Amino acid sequence: MVDLFDIRREYTQGRLDETTAANNALTQFHAWFEAQKSLSPDEPTVMTLASCDSVGQPWQRIVLLKSYDEDGFIFFTNYASNKGQHFAENPKASLHFSWLAQERQVQVQGTVSKISREETEAYFHSRPRESQIGACASKQSQPLENRAVLESIVAEFSEQYEGAEIPVPDHWGGYRLSPTRLEFWQGGAARLHDRLEYIHEEGGWTKVRLNP
Ligand SMILES: Cc1cc2nc3c(=O)[nH]c(=O)nc-3n(C[C@H](O)[C@H](O)[C@H](O)COP(=O)(O)O)c2cc1C
Repeated sequence: MVDLFDIRREYTQGRLDETTAANNALTQFHAWFEAQKSLSPDEPTVMTLASCDSVGQPWQRIVLLKSYDEDGFIFFTNYASNKGQHFAENPKASLHFSWLAQERQVQVQGTVSKISREETEAYFHSRPRESQIGACASKQSQPLENRAVLESIVAEFSEQYEGAEIPVPDHWGGYRLSPTRLEFWQGGAARLHDRLEYIHEEGGWTKVRLNP
């Protein structure tokens, strides 16, 4: 057995208090997101997305947050991927942001739904051309014989669409996770962490401190 008992750190950077935290969960999220962005410009959009399959087995993977507002958190993927199949049966999902440079984490729970085709198209066409081709070529999460097969499909699409706008493939697009719960965690000394839970209820958010 590999004993990791000696790996231990204290969390001492900050406090999170229910009297000063925003009353609106998205306002609080925005404040923490901006703080993380200024500290680590490439990483604030990295989030872990959890889905559940038809037998209740949870799955997780990293995806990138592409926008957020009061209505939810938007990310893009292949609708036929493992996660896409899970959401078709069970649209409940969870996001997790690891902002450990500031000794913080944020959890989000809610329900996902596909965004409009217009919203997907607007984002798709803003991506680098190679990424657009990649989205066309990849049967995400399906077995692939070898890398050469994928590269030849990419080459075919590149030739097919040379000099033309690349249409958004039907299997690709955005999801919006509409949040019902957010939790903000700020590490504290001696494991006395600060946790604030926000629950979305008719017309607004309630805010409660949780035990660490
Ligand atoms: C840093 C990072 C960013 C990623 N961003 C995305 C993304 O925005 N969309 C996506 O579909 N997959 C993204 N992936 C790949 C996913 O983690 C995952 O491999 C893929 O979506 C297939 O997941 P699934 O088989 O569970 O559906 C990213 C992976 C990493 C490590």
